[in-house]
Amino acid sequence: MLGEGEVGDMRILIAYASKHGGTEGIAVRLGSTLTDLGHEVDVHGVEAAGVGGYDAFVIGSAQYMAHWRKEATAFVEKHRDAIAGHPVWLFSSGPLGTDDVDDQGRDLRTLSRPQELPDLEAAVHPREHHVFFGRIDPHTLTLAERALRRLPAGRQLLPEGDFRDWDEIDEWARTIDGQLANA
Ligand SMILES: Cc1cc2nc3c(=O)[nH]c(=O)nc-3n(C[C@H](O)[C@H](O)[C@H](O)COP(=O)(O)O)c2cc1C
Repeated sequence: MLGEGEVGDMRILIAYASKHGGTEGIAVRLGSTLTDLGHEVDVHGVEAAGVGGYDAFVIGSAQYMAHWRKEATAFVEKHRDAIAGHPVWLFSSGPLGTDDVDDQGRDLRTLSRPQELPDLEAAVHPREHHVFFGRIDPHTLTLAERALRRLPAGRQLLPEGDFRDWDEIDEWARTIDGQLANA
């Protein structure tokens, strides 16, 4: 709902790349929160998304082996000129588990920045890149992913469970709304 003094009414594209559905869920939730805040929002997988007619862009990808999904990077590259003239936010998912830091005390969100982030930032100048925790449902994994999880390091790095923080996701949508109001 729009409160007094709020702006709303921007056409926003949320484009995402998701292998097993966790990142799609984050994109859908961002979309419904931004819709509640009064914006006109489309949520599409990057392969089905066009960029015409939008005022702002939120683009996110699941991460595998420290990389964004190829189709997400390709989407940004392909549309960089059309996107870069508008407000843009990027997000990635994401680390797993219930701790914010690894066993050496390092911040997992900082460690989980995708390797292509500098190139993405140079291409579209996002206001922010946000890392969300993700989800692993062992039943949906490929055979290769299951084999990785059977290694001792894999079990530690890839615990099963849904670690997406819906309050944090809603809060980030409100941050985007606030920054749009000032854009
Ligand atoms: C084989 C494998 C490798 C992963 N590698 C990373 C990684 O390098 N960095 C990271 O932050 N998350 C990594 N993850 C966690 C995923 O990004 C997380 O599970 C995410 O929520 C998956 O999103 P999706 O369901 O949209 O595909 C990995 C997960 C798997 C199964």
